[in-house]
Amino acid sequence: AAATRYEAETAPAVCTGTIDSNHAGYSGSGFCNGSNAVGAALQFTVTAASAGVASLGVRFASGTTAGRPADVLVNGTRVTTLTFAGTGAWTTWTTSTLTVTLNAGSNTVRFSPTTADGLPNIDALDV
Ligand code: GCU
Repeated sequence: AAATRYEAETAPAVCTGTIDSNHAGYSGSGFCNGSNAVGAALQFTVTAASAGVASLGVRFASGTTAGRPADVLVNGTRVTTLTFAGTGAWTTWTTSTLTVTLNAGSNTVRFSPTTADGLPNIDALDV
């Protein structure tokens, strides 16, 4: 099935930081500029039609050269660490994909940064 896009600026997504729109190229009305702090998370709530493996596409931009690592938690359980590489500019958006297992129905997908740089700017999650 085609992916469903969940926007970071739209509830029930929760952004620990600000919703900004100053760097062009985002979808929807803005993006999550997470606070520059360990644990300043962005959490999405997504729906799966059936239980099983799903592909997640995280759309982000990072105008710094240092990678920004984050734990990925699905329904509260850490499944991996994803390092968001620099994209060259805050207006250059790219999508990282990862594969996770979802329950049927509602699931939380949380990106929790593990360094004081926090998350990159995150636009949306495609499921
Ligand atoms: C800059 C940029 C922000 C970004 C921040 C960061 O201030 O304008 O959009 O979130 O750097 O380092 O996270």
